Amino acid sequence: MDYDSYPSCSLDARRQAQAGRDNIYLPDQAVIRKIIRENSLVNTYELTLVDELANHRFSFEPGQFMMISMPHLGEAPISFSSSPDSKDGFSLTIRNSGRLTAAVQKLRPGDIIGVRGPYGRSFPTDRLKGKNLLFIAGGIGLAPLRPLIEQRLAQPDETGSLTLFYGSRTPEDFCFNRDFSRWRQDGLDLRLTVDQAAEEWNGPVGLVTGLLDGFPINDGTMALVCGPGIMIRFVLEQLQAMGMEAENIITTLERHMKCGVGICGHCHMEEKLVCIDGPVFTAAEIPDPENP
Ligand SMILES: Cc1cc2nc3c(=O)[nH]c(=O)nc-3n(C[C@H](O)[C@H](O)[C@H](O)COP(=O)(O)OP(=O)(O)OC[C@H]3O[C@@H](n4cnc5c(N)ncnc54)[C@H](O)[C@@H]3O)c2cc1C
Ligand code: FES
Repeated sequence: MDYDSYPSCSLDARRQAQAGRDNIYLPDQAVIRKIIRENSLVNTYELTLVDELANHRFSFEPGQFMMISMPHLGEAPISFSSSPDSKDGFSLTIRNSGRLTAAVQKLRPGDIIGVRGPYGRSFPTDRLKGKNLLFIAGGIGLAPLRPLIEQRLAQPDETGSLTLFYGSRTPEDFCFNRDFSRWRQDGLDLRLTVDQAAEEWNGPVGLVTGLLDGFPINDGTMALVCGPGIMIRFVLEQLQAMGMEAENIITTLERHMKCGVGICGHCHMEEKLVCIDGPVFTAAEIPDPENP
């Protein structure tokens, strides 16, 4: 690999690369194959590692994340949003929320970003087999759940019922709406809600928790919850009030990260490190359920 031709590789990283490639912080190059606009703030980037061998060997599990980087703009953790079984690389769905992610929004197909990973604890895919899965997502929170939804839909013999309750601010803000009709055809019971009504919207208006009223929960039901912290908090409370065991409720948590690999302590959540003990946790494992 020619690191001099890779602008997102810092001088230090370049020196380390020349000294030998055993630096865990050294990013790989990923080329943007395609950009899909999800809404005014969110794009999905379809990526392939430039190194063909690395690309061939690359794999990840639903729920894991990558550290992405650009020159002089640092790094940020971003969840995988594509099927883990895809043979065409992987997708990351990124919201413009700060310095790095704003710069990523200016990139075009053919441009390069730095990536390292995959990192973190994935969803417990073996435990989920055969269960009735209730996915609950808010906004871009559908991104980390999408690989799992795709994986379960592709294995109907090992899957119970699949339900997705998905809430967004307005109808224009839903991510992955191009998937909705295929998912429904494949057997996903998908129900949408929005915070703000719009003229062309005939569905429910209100928080995603409103969709939970009357949902049948039994021993074979497991819930997977992802979205803003406040949404996670209220959904977890409601599911447990409806009789769900905390061990059967799984969520993904976000904390600011630096190393992504359990070294710097930046992402601590009491005695846990979100980057290696998570980002996937059961509700029973969250130290402070009022501040997930
Ligand atoms: C496991 C994991 C998975 C994630 N997956 C995704 C994903 O799939 N898509 C996505 O868009 N985002 C995802 N995120 C969130 C994303 O990593 C952050 O939004 C990241 O900070 C964006 O980087 P930035 O440099 O663009 O913004 P930043 O400059 O980091 O700013 C983002 C926001 O954080 C605030 N902030 C910055 N530093 C700190 C700090 N030290 N303490 C408190 N607040 C601070 C800023 O004021 C701003 O409001 C994920 C986070 C985690 C932990
Ligand atoms: S980000 Fe460094 S320990 Fe988690």
